[in-house]
Amino acid sequence: MVQSERAPLPIVVLLSGSGSNLQAIIDAAQAGLPVDIRAVISNKAEAYGLERARQAGIPTQVLSHKDYADRDSYDAALAALIDGCQAQLVVLAGFMRILSDGFVRRYEGRMLNIHPSLLPRHRGLDTHARALAAGDDEHGATVHFVSPELDAGPIIIQARVPVQAGDTPQALAARVLREEHRIYPQAIRWFAEGRLTLEQGRALLDGQPITP
Ligand code: GAR
Repeated sequence: MVQSERAPLPIVVLLSGSGSNLQAIIDAAQAGLPVDIRAVISNKAEAYGLERARQAGIPTQVLSHKDYADRDSYDAALAALIDGCQAQLVVLAGFMRILSDGFVRRYEGRMLNIHPSLLPRHRGLDTHARALAAGDDEHGATVHFVSPELDAGPIIIQARVPVQAGDTPQALAARVLREEHRIYPQAIRWFAEGRLTLEQGRALLDGQPITP
């Protein structure tokens, strides 16, 4: 099917903070990225990303972990919200929660994450400070399919930035974030166009394995 015949892909975006990646996706959608952002869901009521969504007329939901007894019941409620939107792609955009294996398996091959490092380097938190502490001469960001192991799913696209003399974690984060705003809409476009798939644990673009 050619792109013009496809309906926009229904997606949901999950976030916990500023939502600058959400903003990049909203801006891209307004410029023709074929997605329909059905909802923005946050575990934090104060996340600025919710305000960005409201300003764009996108429905928002807050799901606080404090209202749930354990991770499995939280993740079940989250899945119910996502499925209620008929979302075909789940986009993690700074969603700072560990996901249960059951939740990850439910959305296998249709859940993306962006991580602020050149995976497999610097999984987890504080990636910019750790890149500086390690003396890395380059750093960056990675979009990947989500798998049960944290920040270890098949890589879709990476962006590299130089580490500069005198960089602070904040300066480096800002340089990386500009690249995140470019590569996340790109990966989502590939998925929405049916070009990006997960098969037997490998990310494929146009049927060919992606080798970052
Ligand atoms: C981004 O840098 C994203 O890569 C990171 O959180 C930030 C969210 O910024 N995600 C993670 O660290 C996930 N492990 P944003 O709210 O402005 O999009």
